[in-house]
Amino acid sequence: VWQAVVVPKTQYYTATTLDGYLAGPGNSLDWLLAAEERSGSEANAARGRAFTAFFEQVGAIVMGATTYESIVDREGLLAEPARWPYGQVPCWVLTHRRLPVVSGAPVSFAAGDVAAVHKEMTEAAGGRNVWLVGGGEVVGQFADLGLVDEIILAVAPATAGAGAPLLPRVLGPAELSLTACRHDDMFVYLSYAVSYHA
Ligand SMILES: NC(=O)c1ccc[n+]([C@@H]2O[C@H](COP(=O)([O-])OP(=O)(O)OC[C@H]3O[C@@H](n4cnc5c(N)ncnc54)[C@H](OP(=O)(O)O)[C@@H]3O)[C@@H](O)[C@H]2O)c1
Repeated sequence: VWQAVVVPKTQYYTATTLDGYLAGPGNSLDWLLAAEERSGSEANAARGRAFTAFFEQVGAIVMGATTYESIVDREGLLAEPARWPYGQVPCWVLTHRRLPVVSGAPVSFAAGDVAAVHKEMTEAAGGRNVWLVGGGEVVGQFADLGLVDEIILAVAPATAGAGAPLLPRVLGPAELSLTACRHDDMFVYLSYAVSYHA
């Protein structure tokens, strides 16, 4: 009897500006908030459902220290830890420092080679996908090891001019295959399968 085997993926899923920044100067997400504000309620709701469907398939997440600190700061998580946005999905934070812990959030801190982190994440994910939240240099470290399977972008109608880069690596059309392209009233959604050639 044949059974469908779903191979878990390591996915970089993020919003980005048109000029390839995850955040503007000073870690600003104003461009993202402005895009969401100007988007219609139906499109916002559909986007929320799409994120929920994506996140249901995620079994482990990883982010850099700056991303973690901005979430903690923006959501006021030290005062209100229940606002932690990722539920009980195990989360790795890459840092060389001792960062504050959000009470009750399943966060592990790690440093150095991301190969070991990816192995732990894959085990913890138990057959679900691994979500690389960002930033770009963190995702670049996984890409350097051939560990990124898919890049999924929501491109906002905004430029930031400078800031945190989407993916400061060199990848070309030999590595990136466009697998989906759609849009709503505000964002363009692009999906790429990533393959590596020695
Ligand atoms: N648009 C979106 O949807 C989206 C998605 C993700 C992020 N963002 C935003 O984009 C910005 C991302 O910032 P970023 O790219 O500059 O930084 P980041 O990737 O979030 O964090 C970088 C920091 O992580 C630590 N780090 C990275 N790799 C490490 C390793 N292998 N071992 C130990 N520590 C390591 C280092 O911090 P230390 O050495 O200081 O500990 C490094 O300075 C943030 O503002 C974030 O909020 C937006």
